[in-house]
Amino acid sequence: MSHYVSKQPDVTGKIEWSKIENQTWETLYNRQVEIVKPRACQEYVEGIKRLQMSSAHIPQLSEITESFKHSTGWSVVPVPAMITPEQFFNLLATKNFPAATFIRTPEDLDYLQEPDIFHEFFGHCPMITVQPFADFMQAYGKIALKADPEHRKYLARLFWFTVEFGLINTQQGVRCYGGGILSSKNETIYAVESDIPVRKPFDLIEVLRTPYRVDQIQGVYFIIESFDQLYKILDQDINAAIDEAKTLGEYALVETDKGASKDEWTTC
Ligand SMILES: [Fe+2]
Repeated sequence: MSHYVSKQPDVTGKIEWSKIENQTWETLYNRQVEIVKPRACQEYVEGIKRLQMSSAHIPQLSEITESFKHSTGWSVVPVPAMITPEQFFNLLATKNFPAATFIRTPEDLDYLQEPDIFHEFFGHCPMITVQPFADFMQAYGKIALKADPEHRKYLARLFWFTVEFGLINTQQGVRCYGGGILSSKNETIYAVESDIPVRKPFDLIEVLRTPYRVDQIQGVYFIIESFDQLYKILDQDINAAIDEAKTLGEYALVETDKGASKDEWTTC
Protein backbone atom coordinates (compact mmCIF):
# COMPACT_ATOMS: atom_id res chain seq x y z
CA MET A 1 0.00 0.00 0.00
CA SER A 2 1.16 3.50 -0.79
CA HIS A 3 0.31 6.71 1.03
CA TYR A 4 1.09 8.57 -2.17
CA VAL A 5 -1.63 9.28 -4.73
CA SER A 6 -0.86 9.99 -8.37
CA LYS A 7 -1.93 13.44 -9.59
CA GLN A 8 -4.53 13.54 -12.33
CA PRO A 9 -3.78 15.39 -15.56
CA ASP A 10 -6.23 18.15 -16.52
CA VAL A 11 -8.30 18.09 -19.73
CA THR A 12 -5.26 19.20 -21.74
CA GLY A 13 -3.18 16.35 -20.29
CA LYS A 14 -1.10 18.65 -18.08
CA ILE A 15 -0.34 18.06 -14.44
CA GLU A 16 -0.17 21.02 -12.12
CA TRP A 17 2.90 20.60 -9.92
CA SER A 18 3.36 22.71 -6.82
CA LYS A 19 6.40 24.86 -6.12
CA ILE A 20 7.62 22.36 -3.50
CA GLU A 21 7.15 19.42 -5.90
CA ASN A 22 9.16 21.19 -8.60
CA GLN A 23 11.85 22.05 -6.05
CA THR A 24 12.06 18.38 -5.04
CA TRP A 25 12.56 17.45 -8.71
CA GLU A 26 15.23 20.13 -9.09
CA THR A 27 17.11 18.91 -6.02
CA LEU A 28 16.95 15.28 -7.13
CA TYR A 29 17.83 16.05 -10.77
CA ASN A 30 20.82 18.26 -10.05
CA ARG A 31 22.21 15.83 -7.51
CA GLN A 32 21.69 12.68 -9.54
CA VAL A 33 22.78 13.93 -12.96
CA GLU A 34 26.33 14.38 -11.70
CA ILE A 35 26.35 10.97 -9.99
CA VAL A 36 25.15 9.04 -13.05
CA LYS A 37 27.44 10.65 -15.66
CA PRO A 38 30.54 8.55 -14.87
CA ARG A 39 28.61 5.45 -13.79
CA ALA A 40 25.83 5.02 -16.36
CA CYS A 41 26.31 3.43 -19.78
CA GLN A 42 26.81 5.77 -22.73
CA GLU A 43 23.39 4.94 -24.16
CA TYR A 44 21.73 6.24 -20.99
CA VAL A 45 23.84 9.41 -20.93
CA GLU A 46 22.89 10.06 -24.55
CA GLY A 47 19.26 9.33 -23.67
CA ILE A 48 19.34 12.03 -21.00
CA LYS A 49 20.57 14.50 -23.62
CA ARG A 50 17.92 13.38 -26.12
CA LEU A 51 15.08 13.93 -23.64
CA GLN A 52 16.22 17.44 -22.73
CA MET A 53 14.29 17.28 -19.47
CA SER A 54 14.16 20.47 -17.49
CA SER A 55 16.17 20.40 -14.29
CA ALA A 56 14.04 23.21 -12.85
CA HIS A 57 10.59 21.63 -13.01
CA ILE A 58 8.94 18.27 -13.51
CA PRO A 59 8.47 17.65 -17.25
CA GLN A 60 4.96 17.08 -18.56
CA LEU A 61 4.16 13.59 -19.88
CA SER A 62 3.53 15.06 -23.33
CA GLU A 63 7.05 16.52 -23.42
CA ILE A 64 8.61 13.09 -22.83
CA THR A 65 6.30 11.48 -25.39
CA GLU A 66 7.25 14.18 -27.90
CA SER A 67 10.94 13.41 -27.34
CA PHE A 68 10.28 9.69 -27.85
CA LYS A 69 8.86 10.50 -31.30
CA HIS A 70 12.43 11.23 -32.41
CA SER A 71 13.73 7.86 -31.19
CA THR A 72 11.56 4.82 -30.44
CA GLY A 73 8.02 6.19 -30.76
CA TRP A 74 6.94 5.18 -27.27
CA SER A 75 4.48 7.19 -25.16
CA VAL A 76 4.38 7.89 -21.45
CA VAL A 77 0.99 7.37 -19.82
CA PRO A 78 -0.10 8.38 -16.32
CA VAL A 79 -1.03 5.60 -13.90
CA PRO A 80 -1.86 5.32 -10.19
CA ALA A 81 0.96 4.47 -7.77
CA MET A 82 0.17 0.76 -8.23
CA ILE A 83 -1.37 -1.02 -11.25
CA THR A 84 -2.20 -4.68 -11.92
CA PRO A 85 0.29 -6.93 -13.73
CA GLU A 86 -2.15 -7.24 -16.66
CA GLN A 87 -2.36 -3.45 -17.02
CA PHE A 88 1.40 -3.14 -16.77
CA PHE A 89 2.16 -5.85 -19.36
CA ASN A 90 -0.50 -4.54 -21.73
CA LEU A 91 0.95 -1.03 -21.64
CA LEU A 92 4.48 -2.28 -22.36
CA ALA A 93 3.23 -4.49 -25.19
CA THR A 94 1.70 -1.42 -26.86
CA LYS A 95 4.76 0.82 -26.40
CA ASN A 96 3.26 2.77 -23.52
CA PHE A 97 5.43 3.40 -20.52
CA PRO A 98 3.34 3.66 -17.32
CA ALA A 99 4.48 6.49 -15.08
CA ALA A 100 3.20 7.06 -11.56
CA THR A 101 2.40 10.78 -11.44
CA PHE A 102 3.43 11.81 -7.96
CA ILE A 103 6.74 12.89 -6.53
CA ARG A 104 8.18 12.02 -3.15
CA THR A 105 7.95 14.56 -0.35
CA PRO A 106 11.11 16.34 0.82
CA GLU A 107 11.07 14.07 3.90
CA ASP A 108 11.41 11.03 1.59
CA LEU A 109 14.14 12.55 -0.57
CA ASP A 110 16.65 9.74 -0.01
CA TYR A 111 14.39 6.77 0.60
CA LEU A 112 11.15 5.81 -1.07
CA GLN A 113 9.46 2.45 -1.41
CA GLU A 114 7.32 3.38 -4.42
CA PRO A 115 8.32 4.33 -7.94
CA ASP A 116 7.65 8.07 -8.19
CA ILE A 117 7.91 10.31 -11.23
CA PHE A 118 11.60 10.96 -10.63
CA HIS A 119 12.24 7.22 -10.80
CA GLU A 120 10.05 6.91 -13.92
CA PHE A 121 11.40 9.89 -15.86
CA PHE A 122 14.99 10.10 -14.73
CA GLY A 123 15.57 6.38 -14.08
CA HIS A 124 13.74 4.79 -16.99
CA CYS A 125 12.91 7.23 -19.78
CA PRO A 126 16.46 7.85 -21.09
CA MET A 127 16.82 4.12 -21.82
CA ILE A 128 13.46 4.03 -23.62
CA THR A 129 15.10 6.17 -26.33
CA VAL A 130 17.46 3.22 -27.03
CA GLN A 131 15.87 0.97 -29.68
CA PRO A 132 16.98 -2.53 -28.60
CA PHE A 133 16.20 -1.71 -24.97
CA ALA A 134 12.74 -0.39 -25.85
CA ASP A 135 12.16 -3.43 -28.08
CA PHE A 136 13.09 -5.68 -25.15
CA MET A 137 10.49 -3.98 -22.95
CA GLN A 138 7.79 -4.32 -25.60
CA ALA A 139 8.58 -7.98 -26.29
CA TYR A 140 8.66 -8.64 -22.55
CA GLY A 141 5.16 -7.17 -22.22
CA LYS A 142 3.84 -9.37 -25.05
CA ILE A 143 5.37 -12.54 -23.57
CA ALA A 144 4.19 -11.71 -20.04
CA LEU A 145 0.61 -11.10 -21.22
CA LYS A 146 0.41 -14.63 -22.59
CA ALA A 147 2.30 -16.32 -19.76
CA ASP A 148 0.81 -18.56 -17.11
CA PRO A 149 0.20 -16.39 -14.00
CA GLU A 150 2.28 -18.93 -12.07
CA HIS A 151 5.26 -17.86 -14.16
CA ARG A 152 4.97 -14.20 -13.16
CA LYS A 153 7.34 -14.49 -10.22
CA TYR A 154 10.04 -15.63 -12.65
CA LEU A 155 9.20 -13.04 -15.27
CA ALA A 156 9.43 -10.39 -12.55
CA ARG A 157 13.00 -11.54 -11.85
CA LEU A 158 13.89 -11.07 -15.52
CA PHE A 159 12.52 -7.51 -15.45
CA TRP A 160 14.09 -6.77 -12.08
CA PHE A 161 17.62 -7.83 -13.01
CA THR A 162 17.52 -5.99 -16.36
CA VAL A 163 15.18 -3.00 -16.68
CA GLU A 164 15.34 -2.15 -12.98
CA PHE A 165 18.76 -3.26 -11.78
CA GLY A 166 20.77 -4.18 -14.87
CA LEU A 167 24.49 -3.62 -15.37
CA ILE A 168 26.39 -3.68 -18.68
CA ASN A 169 30.02 -4.26 -19.56
CA THR A 170 31.61 -1.36 -21.45
CA GLN A 171 35.15 -0.44 -22.51
CA GLN A 172 35.21 1.85 -19.49
CA GLY A 173 34.19 -0.95 -17.13
CA VAL A 174 30.87 -2.00 -15.64
CA ARG A 175 28.16 0.64 -15.96
CA CYS A 176 24.51 0.73 -14.97
CA TYR A 177 21.43 0.88 -17.17
CA GLY A 178 18.66 -0.21 -14.76
CA GLY A 179 16.22 2.52 -13.74
CA GLY A 180 16.07 1.33 -10.12
CA ILE A 181 19.79 1.97 -9.87
CA LEU A 182 19.92 5.18 -11.86
CA SER A 183 17.26 7.00 -9.84
CA SER A 184 18.99 6.09 -6.57
CA LYS A 185 21.90 8.17 -5.33
CA ASN A 186 23.36 5.45 -3.15
CA GLU A 187 22.75 2.49 -5.40
CA THR A 188 24.29 4.13 -8.49
CA ILE A 189 27.59 4.40 -6.63
CA TYR A 190 27.25 1.05 -4.86
CA ALA A 191 26.28 -0.99 -7.95
CA VAL A 192 29.31 0.21 -9.92
CA GLU A 193 31.99 0.70 -7.26
CA SER A 194 31.30 -1.39 -4.16
CA ASP A 195 33.07 -4.70 -3.47
CA ILE A 196 30.03 -5.94 -1.53
CA PRO A 197 27.56 -7.11 -4.21
CA VAL A 198 27.94 -10.21 -6.36
CA ARG A 199 28.15 -9.33 -10.06
CA LYS A 200 27.46 -12.20 -12.44
CA PRO A 201 27.44 -12.43 -16.24
CA PHE A 202 23.84 -12.44 -17.46
CA ASP A 203 22.48 -15.95 -17.81
CA LEU A 204 18.74 -16.40 -18.23
CA ILE A 205 18.41 -19.53 -16.08
CA GLU A 206 20.57 -17.99 -13.34
CA VAL A 207 18.41 -14.86 -13.35
CA LEU A 208 15.20 -16.87 -13.16
CA ARG A 209 16.57 -18.79 -10.15
CA THR A 210 17.62 -15.68 -8.24
CA PRO A 211 15.23 -14.10 -5.70
CA TYR A 212 15.49 -10.44 -4.74
CA ARG A 213 14.42 -8.05 -2.03
CA VAL A 214 12.49 -4.94 -2.98
CA ASP A 215 13.33 -3.04 0.19
CA GLN A 216 17.11 -3.39 0.26
CA ILE A 217 19.98 -2.31 -1.89
CA GLN A 218 20.70 -5.32 -4.14
CA GLY A 219 23.04 -8.16 -3.18
CA VAL A 220 23.33 -9.52 -6.74
CA TYR A 221 23.53 -7.86 -10.15
CA PHE A 222 23.67 -9.42 -13.61
CA ILE A 223 25.86 -7.95 -16.34
CA ILE A 224 24.92 -7.96 -20.02
CA GLU A 225 27.46 -7.42 -22.81
CA SER A 226 25.23 -5.37 -25.12
CA PHE A 227 21.65 -4.25 -25.63
CA ASP A 228 21.41 -6.52 -28.65
CA GLN A 229 22.16 -9.40 -26.28
CA LEU A 230 19.39 -8.13 -24.02
CA TYR A 231 16.85 -8.10 -26.84
CA LYS A 232 17.87 -11.56 -28.05
CA ILE A 233 17.19 -13.04 -24.60
CA LEU A 234 13.53 -13.03 -25.56
CA ASP A 235 14.21 -15.07 -28.71
CA GLN A 236 14.54 -18.02 -26.35
CA ASP A 237 11.55 -20.06 -25.15
CA ILE A 238 10.98 -18.19 -21.89
CA ASN A 239 8.36 -20.59 -20.59
CA ALA A 240 10.70 -23.55 -21.15
CA ALA A 241 13.47 -21.61 -19.37
CA ILE A 242 11.14 -20.96 -16.43
CA ASP A 243 10.29 -24.66 -16.23
CA GLU A 244 14.00 -25.47 -16.20
CA ALA A 245 14.67 -22.87 -13.49
CA LYS A 246 11.82 -24.31 -11.40
CA THR A 247 13.29 -27.81 -11.72
CA LEU A 248 16.76 -26.63 -10.72
CA GLY A 249 15.35 -24.68 -7.77
CA GLU A 250 15.91 -21.15 -6.57
CA TYR A 251 19.02 -19.78 -4.94
CA ALA A 252 19.12 -18.48 -1.40
CA LEU A 253 18.49 -14.78 -1.12
CA VAL A 254 21.69 -12.73 -0.97
CA GLU A 255 20.88 -10.03 1.56
CA THR A 256 22.82 -6.92 2.35
CA ASP A 257 22.92 -4.89 5.51
CA LYS A 258 22.34 -1.73 3.50
CA GLY A 259 18.55 -1.66 3.66
CA ALA A 260 18.38 1.69 5.39
CA SER A 261 20.43 3.38 2.70
CA LYS A 262 18.35 2.21 -0.23
CA ASP A 263 16.61 5.03 -2.06
CA GLU A 264 13.97 3.32 -4.10
CA TRP A 265 12.36 0.17 -5.22
CA THR A 266 9.62 -0.56 -7.63
CA THR A 267 6.92 -3.14 -8.07
CA CYS A 268 7.38 -3.14 -11.83
FE1 LIG B 1 10.82 1.08 -12.26
